[in-house]
Amino acid sequence: MKCKKCGGKAAINMRQHKLALCKEHYLDWIPAQTQRFIEKYKMFSPEDKILVAVSGGKDSLALWDILIQLGYQADGLYIGLGIDGGFGYSDKSLRFCQRYADRHGLNLIVVDVGKTYGSTIPQLNDKTPRGKEKPCAVCGVSKRNIMNRAARDGNYDVLVTGHNLDDEAAVLFGNTLNWLDRYLLRQGPVLEAERPGLVRKAKPLFRFYERETAAYALLRGIEYIYDECPHAVGAKSIYYKEILNQLETKRPGAKLIFYLNFLKAKDRGLFAEPVIESEALNTCTSCGQPTTSPAKCAFCRLVELPTPD
Ligand code: AMP
Ligand code: FES
Ligand code: ZN
Ligand code: ZN
Repeated sequence: MKCKKCGGKAAINMRQHKLALCKEHYLDWIPAQTQRFIEKYKMFSPEDKILVAVSGGKDSLALWDILIQLGYQADGLYIGLGIDGGFGYSDKSLRFCQRYADRHGLNLIVVDVGKTYGSTIPQLNDKTPRGKEKPCAVCGVSKRNIMNRAARDGNYDVLVTGHNLDDEAAVLFGNTLNWLDRYLLRQGPVLEAERPGLVRKAKPLFRFYERETAAYALLRGIEYIYDECPHAVGAKSIYYKEILNQLETKRPGAKLIFYLNFLKAKDRGLFAEPVIESEALNTCTSCGQPTTSPAKCAFCRLVELPTPD
């Protein structure tokens, strides 16, 4: 397989784009495409102060790398979840983020959930009635709260995450299987700050396949954590990804079409009508962030649950 641009040896073949590129041209192509998407979906501009949520994985570190190359002002945010899994998952993830930041002279904000809120994610989960189950739901609520808070307190204009097309298509698949209209309405590459206190969010890598972000990280020599979160095993999202991959093998481009046509349908108003946002908009009395709860937000209530004996 030859590079379409220079005829040299191709490092990657993207069947859905009918495009093969060598290492050098691929490393140019990814940032150029990202810039195109940032503009097309009006994600942010060069004047904006950006906070990149980095997990230590390939996608978010690749995203930080691309944004810096494109000349954006982007700091990193790492949330220490306190997940061990027998191999120090969270500590190891932090090391990859810190190493990337140090090597490139970048600013990494670290919020350690255990130290800041008195309990790690698994400990917070133990305090809930569903404490015997996996901590993923508690983890999601906590990450969302902490990301927004860090972005708001640091006066960032936008918070960006490393979600790729495989992530987004899997979420869309789950939302569609269950016809979760509220979630469908809010799913997209940009989430506007709908209320004061909420920071706008964007996913600049949402049009790249997972293998494309992995190839970018590898070819750029970015060191990242290969391990998945130990709680991800058996997660529905992984199962959905497998199904979509089967589809993609038979029909290259299927994932991209599924997702892009969803965005088009949404633009045409397909999901706009039925959602009734009747909940009162309140401010959490503890962390001051917007919430639909009458007093404290879900995360603050979690943090304040008594510790089990
Ligand atoms: P996940 O929900 O694990 O698939 O991660 C999706 C995105 O959320 C990643 O690409 C990161 O941008 C962000 N993220 C996940 N975990 C963390 C973390 N511990 N700290 C900061 N950002 C994170
Ligand atoms: Fe949150 Fe796995 S439970 S990353
Ligand atoms: Zn080439
Ligand atoms: Zn709160």
